[in-house]
Amino acid sequence: MDPKKLMFRPGLMAGERILVTGGGTGLGKEMAEAFLALGAEVYILGRRGAVLEETRDELMGRHGGRVVAVPCDIRNAEAIRDAIDLIWADGGTLTGLVNNAAGNFISRTEDLSPRAFDAIANIVFRGTFYMTLDIGKRWIAEGKSGNVINILTTWVWNGSAFTVPSAMSKSGIRAMAESLAVEWGRYGIRFNNIAPGPFPTKGMTERLSPGSSMDSAERQSNPLGRVGEMTELANLAVFLMAKGAEYVNGQTIAIDGAAYQATGGNFAGLRAWDDAQWEAVRTMIKASNDKDKAARTV
Ligand code: HXC
Ligand code: NAP
Repeated sequence: MDPKKLMFRPGLMAGERILVTGGGTGLGKEMAEAFLALGAEVYILGRRGAVLEETRDELMGRHGGRVVAVPCDIRNAEAIRDAIDLIWADGGTLTGLVNNAAGNFISRTEDLSPRAFDAIANIVFRGTFYMTLDIGKRWIAEGKSGNVINILTTWVWNGSAFTVPSAMSKSGIRAMAESLAVEWGRYGIRFNNIAPGPFPTKGMTERLSPGSSMDSAERQSNPLGRVGEMTELANLAVFLMAKGAEYVNGQTIAIDGAAYQATGGNFAGLRAWDDAQWEAVRTMIKASNDKDKAARTV
């Protein structure tokens, strides 16, 4: 990331302590980098310890400051409690949380088993809630304010054929944010959601457009003729997380070049695929999943 493309003044986020789940890769890494570059202390959390450590070293090498790698599986509420205990012991109360960790893959819904549904819902729906509840309770008990951003998709407005467990889970998190924005507003804890369109990442490409380039498809169909730039996403996350935006609460903001309005921004186009195409894609997704699974340390 080029910090000069960030639209904010240096030091804007000094004194902030922010946890980014899934911060070792993809969009989480980019948002973590922006917070760090603007002066925040950043905790990045995920299941692959080596990936987190590599990202920590890369970001601190580029910007200085402090990034802490936190190996944790958010599907496990006890593991979350232990990880957040360590963060509190390390430097005190967090000021912000970005619920960015997720799992997803494309599949015909009739090809899913209950375990396949759980593989996604346990990360996105349950894990995001467990994390929010653990940290929210601490903020309330300490009388501290807090700021939560959830990374969703535009499918929270129109669903998404062929990624149904993700669409259901992300919609549930939107409902959580809109509910808690009201319930916990009196504690100074606010909630907003970012709904990105396509920002090509390895994790997303391997599971949602394996073997093809989402980038070229998006260039044809997106009103702006391109995919998102990471600094555009990071700028929005910083705006929502920084002091000065306190009155923004309970909102879901799309950042997709108006793809949602133009095309629905989802996978409806895959209705034309035949059995052989689905089988080929499932094989490719399995290979990526197995590779990442082998690298998990928690
Ligand atoms: C059907 C599948 C499948 C597929 C897996 N399963 N892949 N079923 N089609 N392509 C089934 C398996 O057969 C198994 O069920 C069950 O799902 C669990 O599989 P595991 O491999 O054991 O899952 P697990 O190790 O829990 O891994 C979870 C995961 C994995 C979600 C499958 O991909 C993961 O951890 N991903 C994290 C990173 C990620 O997904 N990033 C992308 C985010 S992008 P059975 O019954 O056979 O045992 C994103 C973008 C959205 O969200 C917006 C874009 C515009
Ligand atoms: P990604 O790089 O695969 O990010 C997912 C991250 O979540 C990984 O770092 C992964 O790390 C972590 N994670 C998954 N399961 C976890 C668990 N159980 N516990 C802890 N961490 C876990 O994909 P991405 O594209 O950057 O996606 C990031 C977020 O953006 C997701 O919420 C996604 O739905 C959303 N999004 C992305 C796009 C896009 O175009 N890229 C568009 C819309 C929305 P480990 O595997 O090491 O645990």
